[in-house]
Amino acid sequence: MGCTGQTYNFAAGPATLPPEVLERARASLVDWQGLGYSLLEAPFTGDEFKALVDTTRHQVKATLAVPDHYQVVFLQGGASAQFSLVPLNLLPPTATAGYVETGHWSARAIEEGRRYGRIQVVASTRGSGFDRVPTSSEWALDENLHYCHITPNETANGVQFPGDPDCGDTPLIADMTSEFLSRPVEIERYGMIYAGAQKNLGPTGLVIAIIREDLLGQARPETPTVFNYQAQIERQNRINTPLMFGIYLVHLMLDWLEEQGGVKAIQTRNIAQSQTIYRIIDQDDFFYCPVTPEYRSIMNVCFGIRDQRQQQRFLSEAHASGLANLAGHSHAGGLRASLYNAQPDAAVAALASFMNQFRQRHG
Ligand SMILES: Cc1ncc(COP(=O)(O)O)c(C=O)c1O
Repeated sequence: MGCTGQTYNFAAGPATLPPEVLERARASLVDWQGLGYSLLEAPFTGDEFKALVDTTRHQVKATLAVPDHYQVVFLQGGASAQFSLVPLNLLPPTATAGYVETGHWSARAIEEGRRYGRIQVVASTRGSGFDRVPTSSEWALDENLHYCHITPNETANGVQFPGDPDCGDTPLIADMTSEFLSRPVEIERYGMIYAGAQKNLGPTGLVIAIIREDLLGQARPETPTVFNYQAQIERQNRINTPLMFGIYLVHLMLDWLEEQGGVKAIQTRNIAQSQTIYRIIDQDDFFYCPVTPEYRSIMNVCFGIRDQRQQQRFLSEAHASGLANLAGHSHAGGLRASLYNAQPDAAVAALASFMNQFRQRHG
């Protein structure tokens, strides 16, 4: 905790949540909707919970303007499970899928996807240390690809697609875990979007998937029923006990997002916050950012100190000043400030001031 008694959390996920949402969530742990018992004790088959799932699904659709021919489904197993479930649900055993490799998480999706079918890496920036996103002219797309998978925001590398790519007729599948609901999305460019909720929406283990209807119904027979997209949609997410508290948190976070003015307003704030930190990094040679400016993430600002010996001191002094969890991902190293939707401006101001002072003291 810092000398002001305030701790700001820059973790990459699970990540900081708005205090008012945590307060509302706490109330549900005592008495949910006047039932006389908590949400954790409520039956998932009850009318109250059914209504909550419907409301939350509609909130996702309204927040992102999801067209009617897309379904929203809540799944379990975290985003990593989707690395297997996407091919099991969408890739026939003899078909080929394309993957764009832009960092740690897309590499994980590729590695896992290879266990289920033919995977073709259509573009990769591995050779340049994942410092950018390959431009669409570099993608080796061909009409035989059953789908093309991307990771629009690479949480560990701090690389973000500058917009929604156009893949033509090839269904585009996106792992939006670390940027979901941080910006408006052109949903019709995508066949499927999935996102683990632990960044911008709170709960771990819960995945929100938005799937175009024509892609449903082709799951391989061995796909576990609870992970079959079509089956979960048909049974309204009640094949097994859903992540009830997680869905409730998502509902509260969607209410909160609306109170902030929606995705357009939050995008403006996210850009402004990340620019504050990137400007300090770029000011001189003390700090550096390994990512090419056009592709720098507005969610995960990855950076380093040129004099590597200063890094540990930066982390311990930051911690002592109430700035927690600024270490980079274990595979990427360096430093990382995650600025998800709930990060308050005061946290960014405190980090900016700390970085400037640290440079003055040790530069
Ligand atoms: C882009 C991305 N994809 C997938 C994952 C894995 O998520 P989970 O831990 O829910 O499996 C993460 C986790 O940080 C991520 O950032």
